[in-house]
Formats: sequence, structure tokens, C-alpha cells
Amino acid sequence: MPALDLEAARDAIRAARFLFVLTGAGVSAESGVPTFRGAGGYWRERSFQDLATPGAFARDPRLVWDWYLERRRTVRACEPNPAHRALAAWSERGAGLLVTQNVDDLHERAGHRGAVHVHGSLWRNRCTACGAERDHDALEYPELPRSPCCGALERPGVVWFGEALPAAAIHAALEAAQRADVALAVGTSGLVQPAAGFVQLARDRGARIVDVNPERSGIPAHVSLLMPAGEALPRILG
Ligand code: APR
Repeated sequence: MPALDLEAARDAIRAARFLFVLTGAGVSAESGVPTFRGAGGYWRERSFQDLATPGAFARDPRLVWDWYLERRRTVRACEPNPAHRALAAWSERGAGLLVTQNVDDLHERAGHRGAVHVHGSLWRNRCTACGAERDHDALEYPELPRSPCCGALERPGVVWFGEALPAAAIHAALEAAQRADVALAVGTSGLVQPAAGFVQLARDRGARIVDVNPERSGIPAHVSLLMPAGEALPRILG
């Protein structure tokens, strides 16, 4: 990795008055959580139409729940990596906001406070009758879960393809992206909207964009660090 790029990234982040951070599945890859579109990614082997749409859940709720339970077990067995920890340390001292597309809790388990989850959480269930959500960390469901509020079938508390993102999360992300003078994208292909659009918005407002990803992504970066997040973040956020 050209030292100049690392230096440029570090200097930009150090000089930031307000840093907008967007993370994707790649930030958890070194912890052992599969990505979606990278090598060995979930969508390389399975179809999202069968697992991550409202129609899929209506057709076969057991199939969908079994996949989310498998993901809960995977994440439960993983630990945060140096990238999560570097971001958590930054969140203690730096001005800015971390927005994540990830439904895992590895940012929080690394001590990050205030991360905004725009695609929901693996560890929440939602009532299909009234939409009420609750924390739930079961790793098995012999019987599919029913909501305490309505006795209705519960679904995973995540955002599926074709669904709107939570309004409060969108609001916080848009506000931060507009305010940022520097934006850092970590471990995202930058292919999914509206999340990837937050970085474009920050760029359109004059922010300097740093992208950390071992592969070229769709992020419109000024500085691209083609390296794993676990290696790059301690060096540019330290
Ligand atoms: N460090 C940094 N980036 C990495 C690493 C790593 N160690 N390993 C892989 N990556 C990169 C890959 O090169 C890829 O570009 O992480 C990116 C992951 O991209 P995706 O799998 O497309 O994941 P993401 O961008 O988070 O997907 C967005 O799509 O499927 C939906 O809702 C799901 O939130 C998800 C959204």
C-alpha cells in the first residue's frame, strides 16, 4: 500500500471537523462473518429473493428464520476485530457519526456507542401484526416466535430488499452526511441504496472521501486504501 495513501487518509481524518463513517459487511469479514457479494459471500451461494424479501417470508417463514438463526449463531461465535476496536476508540474522542449497514452487533461489542443501524438488527424480532420490536437473542426456534403484544408471528427485525429504512436512522445519517467534511467508507461494495448514497451526498457537499476495501468498490473516493480494514483502521484512526 503506497505509504502516501495511508498518510493522506490519516491526515484527512485527523483534520476532520466532523467525520461520517459508513461500514458494510467487510468490516466484520476478519471476524469470520461472511459478506454478501465478496468471495464466499451469502448472495454468491443463495438467492436474496428466497431469504431477504417480505415475499420470501410470506412464502416460507421457517426457511427465512433458519437462515437468520444461522447468522445469529455465526455472529455469536465471532469477536470484534481491530477495525471495530479502532472505530470504537475513535467514537470516544472524535466528532462524527458511524452509520452501519450491518445487522451484527460487533461494533457495540467493541464498545462503540451511538452507531446507527440503517438495516436493523439480527437481535431484534418484529411483530408482523403491529410492527412492535423487541430484543431477542434465541439461537433456535423449535416453534416460530410469536409476539407478546399480539400473539402474531414475528419476523427478524431487519430491513429487507424493497423495504424502507427506519425513518430515524435515515434522518440521522442524512444530517451527518451533510455536516461531514470527511467521510470514511469501510468494507462496503457501495452497491446498495440508499446507504451508499450517504457517501455521495457528503462528497457532493465538498467532503473528502476515504475508502477502505481490499477491492475496488463503488464508493466515489478521493483516497482508496486497497487493504483489509483490520490492518488499515488502527493506522489511520490511531
Ligand atoms: N476489510 C475491508 N473490506 C472488506 C474486507 C476486509 N477485510 N473483506 C471484504 N471486504 C469488502 C469486499 O471487497 C466488498 O466490497 O467488503 C465489501 C462487502 O460488500 P457486500 O458484500 O456487498 O456488503 P455490503 O456493502 O455491506 O452490502 C450492503 O446489501 O445484501 C445487502 O442488506 C445487505 O447491508 C447489506 C447491503
